[in-house]
Amino acid sequence: MTRPHLLMLLLLAGAIEPLLASNQTLDVNEIPQRYDEAQLWRIYNISEAMQRRVPVGQMLEQKFGGNIWKENSKFLDISIARDQLKAARSFLSAHRLDAQILSDNIQTMIDEELLEGIQATASQQGKRAKKATRSSMHWKDYHDLDTIYSFMREIRSKFPNIVRLYTIGQTAEGRDLKVLRISENPRENKKVWIDGGIHAREWISPATVTFILYQLMSNWENQPAHIRGLTWYIMPVMNPDGYEYSRTTNRLWRKNRSPSRQNQCFGVDLNRNFDIGWNGYGSSTNPCRDTYRGSSPASELETKAVAEFLAKRKYNLESYLTYHSYGQMIVYPWAYKAVKVKDSSILQRVGSLAAERIAQKTGTTYRAAVTHEVLGIAGGGSDDWSRAALGVKYVYTIELRDRGAYGFVLPPRYIKDTALEGWTVAETVAQAIGPSSSG
Ligand code: ARG
Ligand code: ZN
Repeated sequence: MTRPHLLMLLLLAGAIEPLLASNQTLDVNEIPQRYDEAQLWRIYNISEAMQRRVPVGQMLEQKFGGNIWKENSKFLDISIARDQLKAARSFLSAHRLDAQILSDNIQTMIDEELLEGIQATASQQGKRAKKATRSSMHWKDYHDLDTIYSFMREIRSKFPNIVRLYTIGQTAEGRDLKVLRISENPRENKKVWIDGGIHAREWISPATVTFILYQLMSNWENQPAHIRGLTWYIMPVMNPDGYEYSRTTNRLWRKNRSPSRQNQCFGVDLNRNFDIGWNGYGSSTNPCRDTYRGSSPASELETKAVAEFLAKRKYNLESYLTYHSYGQMIVYPWAYKAVKVKDSSILQRVGSLAAERIAQKTGTTYRAAVTHEVLGIAGGGSDDWSRAALGVKYVYTIELRDRGAYGFVLPPRYIKDTALEGWTVAETVAQAIGPSSSG
């Protein structure tokens, strides 16, 4: 062996050695997932194809590695990797289906989202230095879990008399599950629960729930009686492991990150894991699918923690609000069966009122409807569970912006107005509940 080769070997050995250290392994799950030239397609008339026994979404998922973004009675949004585009296109034409291209490069959308956020945060830091405020929270960018949890701690220390911060459990990867309670009169008050971030990639959801928290607390003393008279439980991130994974490794990750006992796949869809219609339609028994329901009802730590926390507090629990994206819809039970709840006319009226107010405030169109009609039947949802198990009246899943132009990758410049839309729903529901009896 000649000298240069030896030198190279030594260099290589030096470079590789840290990777092979005994406590380190190369984990494929930590390699960032890229979406260069991956396309987002919207495919109409899939129900027709379904009647011809062609499960379009499932086949695109399994044969062409597609990633389903949204599936409802009217269309299917699915992303397809660059090297599968050709094959997927011929599959579609063979079944006389047509795709509308919503995005021709998902990686570009992801890169632009990140850059816009970094710039907004940088200019925000300039402003903060001048104002000498403590919090690094703002609504021109999406934030990591640490920033969100610091913000919650800050709220608690600013209002020690009315705010409590609970750790209601831990995740599979050991992160805390945190809930804030805001209350002037915990015993007598009617209660509202608000959560976000059940699905990791729906970043606008935790952003909206932290904004709701900010709206409540920045002006608490001047809030009307129907807001100050409630006990608010607020959980901005129900799925911290998934959220962090979507920030570091795969922007389009949906589930939590618990390892499967069956195979190499990770994650359970927490919104298919609740104990209501769990064994039914709309979820998968395959741990590799995005809508995997888990090994049993409430098999997941996140589900268990939330269900136990709420079950203990079901007295006077009037509302369960859960924020998702995307689609611009306000939907109410049932989702697990094609039946409306008994008092659906009230839920429809309050949902429509929220939609009207949103239209006045930001000009965005939201639609209020019963879940199974517009999103299809799906069991195991937290919304249905809160109604079925706890008897909560005002149960809404809010699908925030947009309608598919950016989907989950909503540019940070839209956070503020979208969050305001989310707040408008909470405000409208609080008003519908009315003041607690003790005043
Ligand atoms: N996009 C949400 C999901 O798929 C909608 C939730 C509606 N409620 C339900 N129980 N499926 O989870
Ligand atoms: Zn969701």
